[in-house]
Amino acid sequence: MKLITVSDEEELSRIAADILFTKVKSAKRLVLGLATGKTPQGMYRYLSKYSKECKQTFQHIHTVNLDEYVGSTTYHAYMEEHLFRHIDIPRDQIHIPDGEAASLIEECSKYEQMIKELGGIDLQVLGIGENGHIGFNEPGTSFDARTHVVQLTDSTLKANAKYFVDSEQPKQAITMGIGTILESKEILLLAIGERKANAVKELFKGSLSEDIPATALINHPNVTVLADKGARKLLDKES
Ligand code: PGA
Repeated sequence: MKLITVSDEEELSRIAADILFTKVKSAKRLVLGLATGKTPQGMYRYLSKYSKECKQTFQHIHTVNLDEYVGSTTYHAYMEEHLFRHIDIPRDQIHIPDGEAASLIEECSKYEQMIKELGGIDLQVLGIGENGHIGFNEPGTSFDARTHVVQLTDSTLKANAKYFVDSEQPKQAITMGIGTILESKEILLLAIGERKANAVKELFKGSLSEDIPATALINHPNVTVLADKGARKLLDKES
C-alpha cells in the first residue's frame, strides 16, 4: 500500500481529481468505481472543473457506485449533484445500486453481473468509515462478500445522519462487497480528518481483521491511500 500525505482537504481533493482526470484523458475506455459521502465531494468539484476547462469528454467512461440506501435515491441524487450533471457521460453508462428495487436480492446479483460484463473495475475510489468500513461493508463482514444488503451500524448511522434532515434515515443499504471491491485493478482510498485517524492507523498496522473492513486492502497489489495530516495523525505518533 502506498501512502501519500497531503496537508489538507483541498490538496487531497485536487490530487485525487488529478489522478482520475489523467486516466480519463488517456484511456480509450475506463470503468471507474465511485464513492459518495463528504470525503470525495472536493474531488468531484475539481473533476467537474477540469472537465469543463479542458472540454474533456466522458463518453468513454463507465461508472459503478459502491452503495445506496434501501428505499432511497440519496446517493443517486448526490452523484447527479456533485458529478454527473457537470460531465457528458452517457446515462446508460452510470451504475448505482437500486435501493428501491422490488427484489433487493435480485438487484445485488444483477449488480455483480453488470460489473462482470463491464470487464471489472479499473479504478475504485473509496472513503473510509470511522469504524473502518469501506463502501457500507461494516465490521464483521466477510472479506469474500459480494454485493449484498447490510444492516447499518449505529456508528455509520450517526456519521451519515446529516444527509437526512427532512426524511427518515434508512437503516439498511445495498453495498458492493469487499470481495467485489478487491477485484478492482486499482484502488484509491481517501481519508480526511482526525475522525478517520484510528481507522487509518488500523489499516497501516498490517494485520488483517474482519473487525476493520479496510484491512482487507492490505493484500491488494495496487492500493494508494491519500490522507491529510489529520487522518494520518496516529501514524505520526507511532513513527
Ligand atoms: P464520509 O464517509 O466521506 O462522509 O466521511 C466515508 C465513508 O463512510 O466511507
